Amino acid sequence: MDREEQAKDSFLSLRPSTLKEYIGQKNVINSLSLAIEAAKKRGEALEHCLFYGPPGLGKTTLANIVAKEMNSNIITATGPAIEKVGDIAAILTNLSERDVLFIDEIHRLNRAVEETLYSALEDFKLDIIVGQGPGARTIRIDLPPFTLIGATTRIGLLTSPLRDRFGMVFRLDFYNVEELERIVARSARILDVSISKEALRVIAERSRGTPRIANKLLRRVRDLAQIEDSRTITEDIALRALEMLQIDENGLDYLDKKYMATLIGKFNGGPVGIDTLAASIGEDRGTLEDVVEPFLLQKGYIKRTPKGRVATSHGLKSGIKRYKKSLL
Ligand SMILES: Nc1ncnc2c1ncn2[C@@H]1O[C@H](COP(=O)(O)OP(=O)(O)OP(=O)(O)O)[C@@H](O)[C@H]1O
Ligand SMILES: [Mg+2]
Repeated sequence: MDREEQAKDSFLSLRPSTLKEYIGQKNVINSLSLAIEAAKKRGEALEHCLFYGPPGLGKTTLANIVAKEMNSNIITATGPAIEKVGDIAAILTNLSERDVLFIDEIHRLNRAVEETLYSALEDFKLDIIVGQGPGARTIRIDLPPFTLIGATTRIGLLTSPLRDRFGMVFRLDFYNVEELERIVARSARILDVSISKEALRVIAERSRGTPRIANKLLRRVRDLAQIEDSRTITEDIALRALEMLQIDENGLDYLDKKYMATLIGKFNGGPVGIDTLAASIGEDRGTLEDVVEPFLLQKGYIKRTPKGRVATSHGLKSGIKRYKKSLL
């Protein structure tokens, strides 16, 4: 195995593969376990599920777990890659009974493809128009009962006919510090590195509530420990490594800080429209809405109001002002 393969391998194996191993998201896991058990008892396909929430919280991981727990095959596709009706028709007609079809970024399906999905989801029928003009006719193909799992960071962009066809809709939330500590501890075990309790906490607190970030920080911290020939990741090593990465004690990364500094420093704490803010930061509006704002909202640093974004008193007090000079 070359280095890249090795990295890929350790990346993949950090993914929990059963519901039991999956840490956090209690409500989601409880409802899913119940539904899976019931569907298995009935010998039926699981109802269609939709997972939504900010990046890196475990949507793809969960989709794979569901398929595994159902003892089903999983077929993976992404919204923008399914360009034509023929593409989705080919995918659907190749499914076997109780297969899981996972469509990531499902909000990016085009209209025609989405409309083809409607009857497939509702009645397991595929309507295809053959021919053109007056000679055109519709043929109806029966599909085996299957489960669609959709994932999206932008539930707001999903049309309601599509959303309504999911029997279960789950929102993934940011993880708390204790859950992230368990995730990092588990990853450290898998990567075979020893880490102190204090260092676990340091990483967990600075991961923006996100397992993907927690795992990434663990790797960076491990690098420093390795360079310094330390057999254990100590709190001191973790702190220094994270400081180099410009991550502060609230887990805010560069873009979070820049957002707060702009909101406070340039716009007096708001209200300011998201487009103005995005232009001023020099960042895409979608990224601010999907990645940056959910975390700042959860932290209670900002509010969305009809007039625009506003820094809360908590946000103003959080000490972000001190980043102002270096970030504006
Ligand atoms: N509950 C969890 N327990 C342990 N590790 C987790 C958990 N959830 C996610 N992870 C880890 O975080 C990483 C990111 O998860 P995943 O790829 O499933 O996120 P995602 O929600 O699909 O993100 P995106 O929206 O960017 O596609 C995984 O590789 C996995 O190692
Ligand atoms: Mg994903």
